[in-house]
Amino acid sequence: MGLTSKEYDPKDLPAEFLKTYGKNDNEIRVYASPARINIIGEHIDYNGGKVFPAAIDRYLYVAIRKRADSKIIYNDVRFPGTYEFDINDNFAFDKKNDYANYLNGILSQIKAQGYKLDSGFEILMVSNVPAGGGISSSSALECGFAYAVIDTFGLKIDRVEIAKLGQMSEHNFMGVNCGIMDQFIIATGKKNTAEMLDCATLEYEYAPLELGDYRFVVMNTNKVRKLSDSKYNERRSQCESALKILQDNGVAVKALCELSPAKWEEVKHFVSDEILQKRANHCVYENQRVLDAVAALKVGDLKKLGSLLNASHASLKTDYEVTGLELDTLAETSQKQPGCLGARMTGAGFGGCAIALVHKDNVDSFIENVQKEYTAKVGYAAGFFECSSGDGVARVL
Ligand code: GLA
Repeated sequence: MGLTSKEYDPKDLPAEFLKTYGKNDNEIRVYASPARINIIGEHIDYNGGKVFPAAIDRYLYVAIRKRADSKIIYNDVRFPGTYEFDINDNFAFDKKNDYANYLNGILSQIKAQGYKLDSGFEILMVSNVPAGGGISSSSALECGFAYAVIDTFGLKIDRVEIAKLGQMSEHNFMGVNCGIMDQFIIATGKKNTAEMLDCATLEYEYAPLELGDYRFVVMNTNKVRKLSDSKYNERRSQCESALKILQDNGVAVKALCELSPAKWEEVKHFVSDEILQKRANHCVYENQRVLDAVAALKVGDLKKLGSLLNASHASLKTDYEVTGLELDTLAETSQKQPGCLGARMTGAGFGGCAIALVHKDNVDSFIENVQKEYTAKVGYAAGFFECSSGDGVARVL
């Protein structure tokens, strides 16, 4: 089915752990942290919008064991290099620490909240989530690691707080001013559901993900990008500028997504800068599309859901400008295929992944056709896999 890499079986992790670290008296625990797709509601989590993501059945695994001393050691099955720290360190971002920064970011936030670890620990990780691929490999890492440490050390931090720790670590440690969506769905996701999250209040509700004969296919552009190097932060500040202009002109809103489309049409002339107006336009209408999509799914109207996915992609392409040749080729080629109800980029954009809603009997030919056109236009192959919704972060062994 065109998977991008061989799936790692987490049952192999404890043996691999013993090979890496040898024996000690403490228990080895294994945790699974899912990737996510965002069905709809893109780039509005940081604008007080509603989003509709689902955790999926692709996981990153974290094995952890306490040590007798205060050392912290990280290894990853697929990445070379061992990283060593101490529970008494003042964790700070350091480029040479590579993925270890995500873990240290979480530790720094746990420490900042006044929690203390009573010993060191060892970590061995392995991921079945493509890195930099737009399905939240970094949040899976943050939340998987946070949950493993919190559970192993018996800290009283609940799932919503775990999501916040992950977000704070991105803001304060990694330099990405992300919203809360990715960490939230990874911390709280439930199998067979998607989650409608109101990012203004953090209220959320699960909606059964009943797709009948249809499946979500994830399509990876294989164009890796780091959010810290992308225009992500720029988009966020453009939205803040648009909001400020509205507020300065007497419009009483705390976030762009508080505006209904009708209210926005009334006040948008205040935002005379064309770029800022396009950014805000996307936010307001994308928020409405989320409400429409959740309603459509509730009554089983998958056709309507599909057309909303297409409209979302178009808006992210022309108004928000976060797509590019690779994502446009995937989404727009998908939209033309038999059995496909709709397709759009998912996640931050600028590369990463797209999703398509495809009839199960068409999935194989769909992948073949889209791959052919993608390779011809872009010059290298995309990755494809069918996904189901999965559970949020949990202990598995
Ligand atoms: C990234 C961020 C999220 C969200 C999406 C875009 O995945 O981490 O907070 O802003 O981009 O919807």
